[in-house]
This record gives sequence, structure tokens and C-alpha cells, in this order.
Amino acid sequence: MAELKTIKIFDTTLRDGEQSPGNSMNIEEKLRVAKQLQKLKVDVIEAGFPIASEGDFEAVKRIAQTIKGPEIAGLCRSSEKDIDRAWEALKYAGEKGRIHTFLATSEIHMKYKLKMSREQVLENAVKAVKRAKSYTPNVEFSCEDAVRTDLAFLVQVVEAVIAAGATTVNIPDTVGYTIPFEYFNIIRHLKENVPNIEQAVISVHCHNDLGLSVANSIAAVQAGAGQVECTINGIGERAGNCSLEEFVMAIKTRHDILPFKTNVDHEQIVPASRLLSTITGIGVQPNKAIVGANAFAHESGIHQHGVLMEKSTYEIMTPESIGLKANVLVLGKHSGRHAFKKRLGELGYDLSDEDLNRAFERFKALADLKKEVFDEDLDALVADEVMRP
Ligand code: KIV
Ligand code: ZN
Repeated sequence: MAELKTIKIFDTTLRDGEQSPGNSMNIEEKLRVAKQLQKLKVDVIEAGFPIASEGDFEAVKRIAQTIKGPEIAGLCRSSEKDIDRAWEALKYAGEKGRIHTFLATSEIHMKYKLKMSREQVLENAVKAVKRAKSYTPNVEFSCEDAVRTDLAFLVQVVEAVIAAGATTVNIPDTVGYTIPFEYFNIIRHLKENVPNIEQAVISVHCHNDLGLSVANSIAAVQAGAGQVECTINGIGERAGNCSLEEFVMAIKTRHDILPFKTNVDHEQIVPASRLLSTITGIGVQPNKAIVGANAFAHESGIHQHGVLMEKSTYEIMTPESIGLKANVLVLGKHSGRHAFKKRLGELGYDLSDEDLNRAFERFKALADLKKEVFDEDLDALVADEVMRP
């Protein structure tokens, strides 16, 4: 098999994720999440936006002082004040500190938000990168709203910031607007038309407004991107960011067709997801890919029978590979005799064929009345059956 290219995982749970309603965290909470991200072995932790508040400054500083292994990034706008403040917090990470500065490049943002011309944006972007570079060799520049930016101008900006010293250039889909085919072409175009592109890593940062953030990120790495920005549970502005667990497991599960790997320790995925939910109080939807409560639960009899015979009939990855103990066979009206018998066995019941048949009939009648049949229901049902004259 061809050698797999390693894609860097840049986790922005503590910055873009935290920016979304209900997800803000205090310093201690951010530090707990950062420690779990360290165990997860992400390559970069974006710890916050130091100029945004005293609390965020302190959180970035504490994370920079404490976490060993991943690089620590802090976000800042393209102004001297922002950049200086970011480094003030990040300097404790030493050579692992990364300044992440950004400026919008789309016509709509330049006209209505920045009120700047293309020339001014280009000049400011270069100035910002040079300022950041005076502190650290590790500088990322983001062309905010890159997907809605004129492609020729995007080429110009990317070339200029790399010449100024950016070692990572991010091409965000800030408003979650692109589709995989289009995003692939944008990244490919940059790869083919920016003369100094090989001097920097192309990063992608996808929002999920159309539910395409993971698909778009995959298309981007196929076109040559080397870093993917994502969050635990896909939290983030509006509909969220590319979900770390979905991207990582897609890459791992389909390496037959996607020649990539990540450094992530995937068995730490479920602990990371649960820790974040516990801290923010926001649970994940039950049918969420990878970490939802139903992602490894089977209710239908046909599926239950299949996984009892051979798990890969209905599971494309093992629950253990993401840090779950086992899959779950949920007993409900679609369940079959195999799963029913197995659960009774786990509960310590060994019924004769005749008792089992009668108990199964009563179980089906009960399941028609309830969404799920629990172990306590089975205890009562079996006791009833066995005590029957
Ligand atoms: O979505 C976005 O464009 C961002 C940038 C600041 C990277 O979050
Ligand atoms: Zn974003």
C-alpha cells in the first residue's frame, strides 16, 4: 500500500467551539479540555483569543504553560495590539507557540465589515505576518471568508503572506457555503498557481451550515491540504465546525481509498466527547456520527442477529476503537429472539425453549407499548413467566 500522508489536526474547540452559544468555559474548564486534547494527541490546540477578555488571556497562558506535546495557538486580528497580546500569552509555550492571525479577503467582508480596499487588505496581511514573525517562526494566517474570495486575489494574498513568513495558510469556509467539488478545486488551484505554496502548509477550516464541513475537509485533503481545523463534537459558530471525531474516523476507516492518517489516539475520542458535554452541559444528539448514543446501538432484529454473528455486518468500525466498551443491543419492538435470548443470558436466566418462547411473546407485546424494554422489565417478565402455574 502507498505511504499514508499525515494530516495535522488543529483543534479549535477552545476557540471557535467556545465562541458558540452555551459553550463558553472558565479557565479551569478550558485547562481540563486541553489536557484531554493532549491525551488525544492533536497536533495543535487553539486555546483561545487572548485579546477577547482577561479570562481568555489567562486561559491561553495557563494552557501554554501546562500542556506539553501539541503546539499551542492563539487567535488575533491583524493589528499590532492583538498580535502583541497573543504572544504575551503564548510565549510560555516557547517554540510550540503559534500566532494565528486573520483578515477577511472576500469582497463582501472587505466592503461592509472592514471598509478596506484590496490593496489595504494585502498590505495589512503582510504587515501582520511580519509582526507575528518577529515573535515566533510559527505563524498561521487565515484568509477569512476565503471561499467567497475572488480566486485571483486569493492567490495574490496567499503568495504574499507566505513570502512574509507565514508557515501555515488557512483557507476557511467561514460561512459553511462551499461544497466538496468546489472546495477541492479552490485548494487545487492554490496548489497549482501560488509559486511559493510548498513553503507553507495549507490548512482548511470548514463550518457546517450546509452539513458539509467533514465532506469538504476530506475533499480539501484530497486536493493537497495538510492541516484540518476541527472541534470535539463539532461545536462552533452557528451550525458548528468540522467534527474532529468524524474527520479522524473517516480517514481511518477509509484509508483504503484515502491515503492519509492522523496522529490522533482515537481511543480517546469518547472520553473527550463526554468530558466536553459534561463541562458545557450540552449533550450530543443521539444519532450523531461516531459519538452519539445510537452510533453503536442496534434495535432491529435483523441487525442484532447480524452483529451477534459478525460485528462487521453492521459496524464499519469497532466501538473499542473510539474508546467505548462495547456496542449496545437495544431491546424494542424490532428486536429478535437472538438478542432477547442473549440479554436474558447476560442477566443470568437460562430458560427452557418453551419458557423462552412464551417469554418472547410477552416481550413483543410489551415492546409494542414501550419505546425500549429495560433489564428491570425483563426481570419482571421472567419472574412472571417462571412463577406461572
Ligand atoms: O471561520 C473562520 O473564518 C475563522 C477564522 C478566524 C479562522 O474562524
Ligand atoms: Zn471559524
